[in-house]
Amino acid sequence: MSWWKDAVVYQIYPRSFYDSNGDGIGDLEGIIQKLDYLNDGTKNSLGIDAIWLSPIYPSPMYDFGYDISDYNSIDSVFGDIPTFKRLLEEAHKRGIKIILDLVINHTSHLHPWFLDSRSSKSSPKRDWYIWRDGKEGKEPNNFLAAFGGKAWTLDEKTGQYYYHSFLDEQPDLNWRNPEVKEEIFKMIKYWLDMKVDGFRLDVVNLFYKDAEWRDNPSRMFKGIRPYDRQVHIYDRDQPEMHDLLKDLRKLLDSYGDKMSVGEVMMDPPGKVSIPASYYGQNDELHMAFNFAFLYSFWGAENFKKVIDDWQDALGPNNWPNYTLSNHDFRRHISRYYAGKNSIARAKLAALMLLTLRGTPFIYYGEEIGMESERVARMDLRDPVGIRYWPLHPGRDSERKPMPWDDSYSGGFTKGKPWLPVYTKYEKRNVQLLKSQENSIWKFYRDIIHLRKSSQVLKEGNIETFISPDKNILYYKRELGGVQNYIFLNFSAENSIINIPPNWLPKKILIDNVFNYEKDTAFQESKIFTMLPYQAILLSDR
Ligand code: NOJ
Repeated sequence: MSWWKDAVVYQIYPRSFYDSNGDGIGDLEGIIQKLDYLNDGTKNSLGIDAIWLSPIYPSPMYDFGYDISDYNSIDSVFGDIPTFKRLLEEAHKRGIKIILDLVINHTSHLHPWFLDSRSSKSSPKRDWYIWRDGKEGKEPNNFLAAFGGKAWTLDEKTGQYYYHSFLDEQPDLNWRNPEVKEEIFKMIKYWLDMKVDGFRLDVVNLFYKDAEWRDNPSRMFKGIRPYDRQVHIYDRDQPEMHDLLKDLRKLLDSYGDKMSVGEVMMDPPGKVSIPASYYGQNDELHMAFNFAFLYSFWGAENFKKVIDDWQDALGPNNWPNYTLSNHDFRRHISRYYAGKNSIARAKLAALMLLTLRGTPFIYYGEEIGMESERVARMDLRDPVGIRYWPLHPGRDSERKPMPWDDSYSGGFTKGKPWLPVYTKYEKRNVQLLKSQENSIWKFYRDIIHLRKSSQVLKEGNIETFISPDKNILYYKRELGGVQNYIFLNFSAENSIINIPPNWLPKKILIDNVFNYEKDTAFQESKIFTMLPYQAILLSDR
């Protein structure tokens, strides 16, 4: 198996992980200092296998790194190339892979390429970006920017419009120009030569737009944002993307066992056939994110549907992956909020995430049950929130500093944190939860370590079921005759489950209600009652 199929991936939002120099912003040296927390080879650490770093390249930070002004370096706020090399080395020593964020749909408007491109119509870089004349004094077509406003901005100097899928400080590259591809592939090689292990590709289905720039049709009212009221058929998912991904795959494969995972914007949000299409015939992306859990409501049936739809869309040969939270969405513990039962729900979700067939992606802080918290308007940092509030509240709430202990700023920084800290940090921080019996941190840790040592959990096939009262999602994982069974009671009530006749559970490996270490013998009964939000993992031996 390739390492990335067996890996548990941990996403770090570098600004918010750990600040080593007191400037209030997390940095690479901070990540190095926390590598042992992530995996020191013992059960004292979480045990993750790979880190996906949100962008660390030089950037004017209009979109906090998703607007890159130099692809071959590190922003001074995070460190420098030698520090990055040390991070790679220290991570590799611990068996942790490093995945970089590749943001190549667009650059910063301050990237030298765009400055050049913008300087005149005859610039040799003019065609590296998307420039069009207006139509009857208006934008070239009706495309909108994902966060708000038009996707076209008029540049007074040359009288033409440039295209940006996101902020106007993020002009889109013109992927129809072969020079762009050549230059970007050169940059990818630069990082591969440095021994990075893979890439997460930002908005991978947006690179190509309709060659004729036709207008997107409008959609019957759906959502309050104008962007959601267009059917996005011409501003994304163009056939040319598949050829590009095939070339990228060849490049990655030529370096050995590298991994690519693409972020795919789904229109409408749950349509998993779209990310599935970017796996190609095992010759495009290694994986594309399925964000269906981010959009689905709590419930056994809803969650079963996400798993089944994804398996069906991928077929037997493409490898699934699952995500509950990331830096763009309300954290799942807050989405699935259930008052005093929120932690129980979060544990259930964790058991599911880490026992499904497919690579699990964990977002920093989810292992301690950190919530998304409203950030006061005066403290907002995300321009999306600042500019488009209240249509878009921004994403600061899910990017708060990681609380390490109960000292000042949750131990994140000695300076002034760039975003307000998590208000519950005194009761919910790494140090405390690592020492507390039955904490959510220990729950994550235990399942991760169990998964690492279990071929059936990593690679076994899966069959999903639902209880007659629709409260319990349960599934079987099987590999070479070994069986594991997972039962998840999504309801706040006791629910009864009948174990299928050919299932032979013998032992409880994990249980979020009882202390499973003291309670390993499973009663032979074929019917049992699950307590509210109970989540258990059983094995047949
Ligand atoms: C998707 C990223 O996840 C998001 O944070 C960013 O703002 C946009 N792409 C634009 O790069």
